[in-house]
Amino acid sequence: MNKTRVLTGITTTGTPHLGNYVGAIRPAIEASQDPSVQSFYFLADLHALIKAQDPKLIQQSRLEIAATWLALGLDTDNAIFYRQSDIHEIPELQWLLSCVCAKGLMNRAHAYKASVAENEESGGPDPDRGVTMGLYSYPVLMAADILMFNANRVPVGRDQIQHIEMARDMAGRFNHIYKKEFFTLPEAVVGERVQVLNGLDGRKMSKSYGNTIPLFVAEKKLLKLVRKIKTNSLEPGEPKDPDSCTLFQIFSAFANEAEAAEMRQRYAEGIGWGDAKNVLFEYLNEHLREPREKYTALLEDPGHIEAVLKKGAERAREVATPFMDELRHAVGLGRFI
Ligand code: TRP
Repeated sequence: MNKTRVLTGITTTGTPHLGNYVGAIRPAIEASQDPSVQSFYFLADLHALIKAQDPKLIQQSRLEIAATWLALGLDTDNAIFYRQSDIHEIPELQWLLSCVCAKGLMNRAHAYKASVAENEESGGPDPDRGVTMGLYSYPVLMAADILMFNANRVPVGRDQIQHIEMARDMAGRFNHIYKKEFFTLPEAVVGERVQVLNGLDGRKMSKSYGNTIPLFVAEKKLLKLVRKIKTNSLEPGEPKDPDSCTLFQIFSAFANEAEAAEMRQRYAEGIGWGDAKNVLFEYLNEHLREPREKYTALLEDPGHIEAVLKKGAERAREVATPFMDELRHAVGLGRFI
């Protein structure tokens, strides 16, 4: 049986937080346990260069993100886990795709359009100010990531759906021009049930708002951050609404149904915010302790992480190298004999 190929990339520009875990990491690790699926998960470190030009930050983030996924139990015998930058075929494929991709398609990409709109609003003379070719051709690199492995399904956030459609467009054009179904058209998978967590200030938890709770902060810092979560001014004893409360939202993303129901009851009974924060802290701390210890141990052993990712890259290249050969041949760049 041909397994369904599920592929997704994680841009390596930050430290994973609770929102990343609940919204992306946990569902991806769960999905990779399905025997009918071959998953490809990778550190999108070439994409990271578009957003950050601080080598230390990129290097640290690559290490932290790899350690996070491993500490949370990603089974790398099963999932193929690699660094984008280890697969030299990806930027090569990006070039082939660039040569079939209409420039006008890239003009319509959201991230690029947002930069142009910002420049226009600020009234400056150059609408492309600060736009690198990396940012502009970001969707072509992403298409290469996906098409390199002929992924069937690509789990992404809503903001990425357009990029998957662009990948389909490039795949279709390439297949048409070179007269063979080289590429499978990928489908975006946007989890309907995927949870979006709120951050310290009640807005969506996001690095760009600076309101995150990093997944593996030390215990003391975790307590400090939980205490910072914004609540309203209701006094202890007054009934509270769990559904509009960030504390409850985070709690229920980790708790089972019975535990969440019990917490609801305590809100109805008027639990004080101080107590609610203590309960959340204890709960998170309890659940994160073991992976946090693993994470710390992994970070102290970068050689192990390196070996795991190298192995992943080898497995990925078992697919990518022969396929890239075929593609080179198809466009007229094959060997002479
Ligand atoms: N652009 C994606 C993001 O910011 C990360 C990414 C890079 C990706 N390449 C990919 C996701 C390929 C899915 C498939 O979230």
